Amino acid sequence: MAAHSPSVVNSNDEPGYDLDLFCKTNHYAEDLQKVFVPHGLIMDRTERLARDVMKEMGGHHLVALCVLKGGYKFFADLNRNSDKSIPMTVDFIRLKSYCNDQSTGEIKVIGGDDLSTLTEKNVLIVEDITDTGKTMQTLLSLVKKHKPKMVKAASLLVKRTPRSVRYRPDFVGFEIPDKFVVGYALDYNEYFRDLNHVCVITETRKAKYKA
Ligand code: HPA
Ligand code: MG
Repeated sequence: MAAHSPSVVNSNDEPGYDLDLFCKTNHYAEDLQKVFVPHGLIMDRTERLARDVMKEMGGHHLVALCVLKGGYKFFADLNRNSDKSIPMTVDFIRLKSYCNDQSTGEIKVIGGDDLSTLTEKNVLIVEDITDTGKTMQTLLSLVKKHKPKMVKAASLLVKRTPRSVRYRPDFVGFEIPDKFVVGYALDYNEYFRDLNHVCVITETRKAKYKA
């Protein structure tokens, strides 16, 4: 395992792609500035991540634990690409730490099964984005209490932010600048999850979707 998990790195001055270059959800046309990570690139990167996960964790019953709601697309695509030669079960947990685009600093567990099913399993936590990293740190310590054989985390995106607690997941799709992104299941107050691409929202249009 590399000390620093490799990822595609989007630079701070990454311009993104014009929305007109892709098919998009028309009702969001005015609300988005740029396509930041196109869906096809997410697919290609996820295919490789699934292979890396299987190489490191595939020797034993794997439980893929999805952090809802933002993780659902990444979770499904990661699973679709996984090796089918070992038993894998899935579980779902729901946490909430955001209101508008600010972390409230407090993490609430809203749903989830009995975590004792994770004991002695190889557990892969799957989430959409690691921002401050506090959510994942909290969830990791929660899972570890149930004595899994191994626990690792996969995050589609990692944000470069000064607010970070310097936690980095074991598997990272893309490292992005400190911008608020939506799409591919990431939301702004529950909107934009239905977008295929990861996009940057237009600042002036945020008010329309304020909680
Ligand atoms: N977008 C959506 N949800 C998030 C983000 C983001 O940039 N950061 C943390 N949760
Ligand atoms: Mg969210």
